[in-house]
Amino acid sequence: MIDVNPLRPLILAAAESPRLKRALTGIPVTADIVRRFVAGETRIDLIGVARTLLNSGRMVSVDFLGENTTDRNQADATVAEYLSLINDLAALDRPALPGIAVPPVEVSVKLSALGQALPVDGPAIATENLRILCTKAAQADVWVTVDAEDHTTTAATLATVRELRGEFPWLGAVLQAYLHRTETDCRELAGPGSRIRLCKGAYREPPEVAFQRASEVTDSYLRCLEVLMRGEGYPMVASHDPVPIAAAADLAAESGRGPDRFEYQMLYGIRDAEQLRLAAAGSAVRVYVPYGSQWYGYLTRRLAERPANLAFFLRALVSK
Ligand code: FDA
Repeated sequence: MIDVNPLRPLILAAAESPRLKRALTGIPVTADIVRRFVAGETRIDLIGVARTLLNSGRMVSVDFLGENTTDRNQADATVAEYLSLINDLAALDRPALPGIAVPPVEVSVKLSALGQALPVDGPAIATENLRILCTKAAQADVWVTVDAEDHTTTAATLATVRELRGEFPWLGAVLQAYLHRTETDCRELAGPGSRIRLCKGAYREPPEVAFQRASEVTDSYLRCLEVLMRGEGYPMVASHDPVPIAAAADLAAESGRGPDRFEYQMLYGIRDAEQLRLAAAGSAVRVYVPYGSQWYGYLTRRLAERPANLAFFLRALVSK
């Protein structure tokens, strides 16, 4: 059985074309295909969505969309937006979740949006900017988790997280199961208090560094999951795939992990009924919610994961 999605690399490669980007970013954020995955363009849109999710028994992790900035001013503007976002999220009511004491609001952040790709001192600038966000988040009882981007950034991103975890032990990181290195990273990062969000991985990566077949990626995910669930940290099981979701439940039962010691995570707009089912069963469920006008990269990654979404996208493009 061939288990490679042939459209995935094609969509991810096409997405890098500036012409396509110009054409597609003309689609309004209100178009159904964008709205399905993105909470809206403004913080006001986002706060409305976050409030609804919290009232439904789910937790949230909010991403202010943007990545790969090569402009210092833009990185600073991103920091300013995150600081306002943390303020607004901290002001939301937090409905009680039985048996779950972790902060129900979190922000997710890409270091490339905080300046990691700047030509001079990028990683140091991104680290400093992340420190500013974490300081504010600690005062507001809001968690922060650092997203994983393409493999060329993995080492620098994990170095930043390691550096700041001394000051902010609750700072989370994302690991991508498709990378060959990740099982080792999981072993190193499964210690007490370590918060790791395990996902499959969404970028176009070469075979030298990443598994290419869906079955290999799922197998790697399961191996990594076992390391994290048997470890002493706080695993965040970020997947919509029923196989890892069931495996996490089994591992939690085996190792006596209650709902306050790991959580399921899914993306806004994907498998909503499953999110609600898990939350109703008493599990901790967090929804990753993006907002902002820079939705192009995020949306093309969602399309590449499920080519059936492409038809919706093309319809939106034709009718724009
Ligand atoms: P898989 O792709 O096998 O999907 C399983 C099922 O889920 C599909 O059959 C379908 O039903 C549904 N589904 C999945 N994707 C869908 C879509 N786009 N549209 C509609 N249905 C869909 N990646 C990364 O590289 N860096 C990161 O920092 C993050 N962060 C992150 C946070 C969270 C909370 C999640 C859930 C995911 C990420 N990802 C990510 C994305 C991740 O790497 C991966 O690309 C997607 O989650 C899809 O993989 P699944 O594990 O869901 O399995």
